[in-house]
Amino acid sequence: MPRELSLADIFQIGYYWETKILLTAVKLDLFTPLKGEALTVHQVAEVLALNARVLDLVMNALVAMRVLRKEGKHFHNTPVAERYLVQSSSEYVGHLLLLHDAEWNNWGQLEETVRTGQSPVNQHVFETHPELGAKVLTVLDRIGRGSGPALAQRLQLQEAKQMLDIGGGAGTNAMAFCREYPGLSATVFDLPQTLTVTKQCVEDAGLSDRIRFQAGNFHEDAFQGTFDVALMSDILHYQDGKTNAALVAKVHGCLIAGGRLIIKDRFLDPSRTSPAWTTAFAVHILVNTEKGDCFTIEESRKWMEQAGFSAVEELEPCAMIQGTK
Ligand SMILES: C[S@@+](CC[C@H](N)C(=O)[O-])C[C@H]1O[C@@H](n2cnc3c(N)ncnc32)[C@H](O)[C@@H]1O
Repeated sequence: MPRELSLADIFQIGYYWETKILLTAVKLDLFTPLKGEALTVHQVAEVLALNARVLDLVMNALVAMRVLRKEGKHFHNTPVAERYLVQSSSEYVGHLLLLHDAEWNNWGQLEETVRTGQSPVNQHVFETHPELGAKVLTVLDRIGRGSGPALAQRLQLQEAKQMLDIGGGAGTNAMAFCREYPGLSATVFDLPQTLTVTKQCVEDAGLSDRIRFQAGNFHEDAFQGTFDVALMSDILHYQDGKTNAALVAKVHGCLIAGGRLIIKDRFLDPSRTSPAWTTAFAVHILVNTEKGDCFTIEESRKWMEQAGFSAVEELEPCAMIQGTK
């Protein structure tokens, strides 16, 4: 049993001050001038053209939050800030935080959304801010590279020749699968603006001869080709269940007999109250997409079975499901 919440916990959750302080610091790129250096608030303010009096309050709070350190009048990055929040670091993750900062005003409309049932937006970030979306995908790609090989091995795709990666993003999974299975080629289907990143990542990985690209909108455009395996990874939550059911049926149409559809996502458990991260993510997606949602494994099983898939099985609890045509 999780421990009961205290009043202090309630305040900790309710007071979002630290969240906005961190997001603003990343937006202002406070950590980059501090790379390998200890600077006074006046020096940082001068480099970034900020107001030193106000910046001082923010930087002191960042020290209390253990993101910065302060010795005398000099501030410097903690190891975690130096590694992940300095723009020139190869492990920079700021773009993920900037995405949340960009969506701040949508969160401000949560109350209205709950009252009316109407989301404040009618498009998601990959449509409205493709440049930010692209940067986010680059970070996700770097993080996803760690888990890609194990996923590829787990799926046992030795027999597959052609893979379709729907909403494939930076091509992280397509690249991991092609590396694992030398006989496999892949098509990454995604929005044209996203594919500019995908092409670069695939080229950098030296896989341009094995991975093709199809630009389009997966709700409107047909998938070109016939495939042994299709992957839908982290794309369910941009649309409602009815639309996902139609997408799954469309994927069924482009698979060979015996072909497999694998859906990898953040699923809710049947009570819809767990995993905790996903319950909050469902609200995040509610205010940042027109009709997005999170779903249960059982809901996706139904979409697959209705489309004609058989042997539908949950490969990983709340994470992955597969069906065979
Ligand atoms: C969270 S990313 C997932 C990327 C990748 N599948 C992965 O697991 O790393 C969602 C992807 O879906 C793409 N996407 C969203 N809506 C789309 C649509 N209507 N048509 C095609 N691609 C779409 C986005 O451009 C983005 O690349």
